[in-house]
Formats: sequence, C-alpha cells, structure tokens
Amino acid sequence: MRLDFISLFPEMLKPALSVGVVGRAVDKGAIESHYWNPRDYTSNKHRTVDDRPFGGGPGMLMLPQPLDDCIVEMQQQQQAAGVEQSPIIYLSPQGRRLDQALVKELSALPAITLLCGRYEGVDERLLEKHVSIEVSIGDYVLSGGELPALVVADAVARQLPGILGHEDSAEQDSFANGLLDCPHYTRPAEWQGREVPPVLLSGDHAAIAEWRQAQSIKRTNERRPDLLSTDNPSKPRSSGSE
Ligand code: ADE
Repeated sequence: MRLDFISLFPEMLKPALSVGVVGRAVDKGAIESHYWNPRDYTSNKHRTVDDRPFGGGPGMLMLPQPLDDCIVEMQQQQQAAGVEQSPIIYLSPQGRRLDQALVKELSALPAITLLCGRYEGVDERLLEKHVSIEVSIGDYVLSGGELPALVVADAVARQLPGILGHEDSAEQDSFANGLLDCPHYTRPAEWQGREVPPVLLSGDHAAIAEWRQAQSIKRTNERRPDLLSTDNPSKPRSSGSE
C-alpha cells in the first residue's frame, strides 16, 4: 500500500514510520511512504504558506496555491508510478470519526494520501477541489494533522496481510469483532498475590475461548455500552470487520 503524506513537518512523520509494526510493514515493502512539503511549492521569496482569514478571527490559514501545486505534482508522480487513484484524506476535527470499520475500508485501498493541516486549517476551496474524505481521530483539537495521520497509518498498517504475527493477529484486536478486547495475562501465574484466572492455565481451548468472549462482552457492557446492540446486549451493534 502506498501512503503519501502532505505536511509542513515531514520530520515529525518519518521517524514514526521506521519503528514497530509500521516500521516492519515498511521494511517488508507492504507500505511505501512518500512525503510532500507544501513549502517547496511557494512562489514568494519568504516561502509563506499561510495568511489571515477573510472576515477576521484568530489564527492563520494554509494558502490554497502552494497546496494545489504540491498536490498536482504529487498526482503526476503517482500516475507515473502506476497509482490509479489515491483518495486525499484531510485530517480535521470536523471529519468523520475514525473507527475500525473505516480503518478496514482504507486498508483495502492500494493507496491513500494524508493531508495534514496546520494553523487554523486550510482554505475551504482547496478542500472542495481535492479532498475525498475528512477524518477526525476524536473530539479534541490538536495543533496539526500529523499525529492524526500517524494514527491512521498505524491502524491501517496492522490490517495489511502478513504484518502481524499469528499471536497478535488483527482479528484479535479490540473492535475487530465490534467488542472490546478481553484481559490478558503472562508469567508468572501468581504475581504479588494476584493470580491468573485458572481457566487460562487449564489447557482447555474451548473453555478459554468461551471465557474470553464472556470477558469481552462484560467489559464492553461496563465500559462502552454504546457499542452493543440494544435488543441483544451480548452482540455488537455492528461488526467492525464488515
Ligand atoms: N487536527 C486537529 N485536531 C484533529 C483531530 N482531532 N482529528 C483529526 N485531525 C485533527
């Protein structure tokens, strides 16, 4: 999968794509990343990328021209590389809330472009022209789209085939089946007077699977009842794997 990042701070993104699960996906060639800096597409001598909003108000906005020139060149390069389309995702608190279903949808695409805003945002006309979907990672405001773009990249990378081992398969993640994950334990079997639930030491795989499912439902009921369907509180409202 190809990931293109449009960002004024590529130095913030690159290290995060070199470690852990995402780093492994890059090393294996499952993820190919490209970085595009709108500051390289300015036509003024100060390399300005922002200006004040019409109508007044606090903060600055990203100018449409450097971003447009940057996107046009990126799309030419994508085409030359045989990428037919790479929907542009703009990270913003006004977007569709990211969840596991959207992560799955995005991970099935051959390429996506993550547009990271800074300042108070981006001129709306640029967004109208180029953006396919606006995505938010939650109801709070960050200083830019770089951290949200990394959240999307990480969540998408762990869905790609062959990236997670069998043990930590994406199918076992919280939300993979619409429920929260069950609790997990490792050695020692007794630690500071606290014991591991005996069923996990029993070797009875059917009993373990049943216990885990029951724990997932219990946790989801206690912590995130909004995820459960109202007519059947042991069933997820909708499966995140669809
Ligand atoms: N940019 C700033 N805050 C954001 C958020 N919560 N989600 C996505 N992009 C953002």
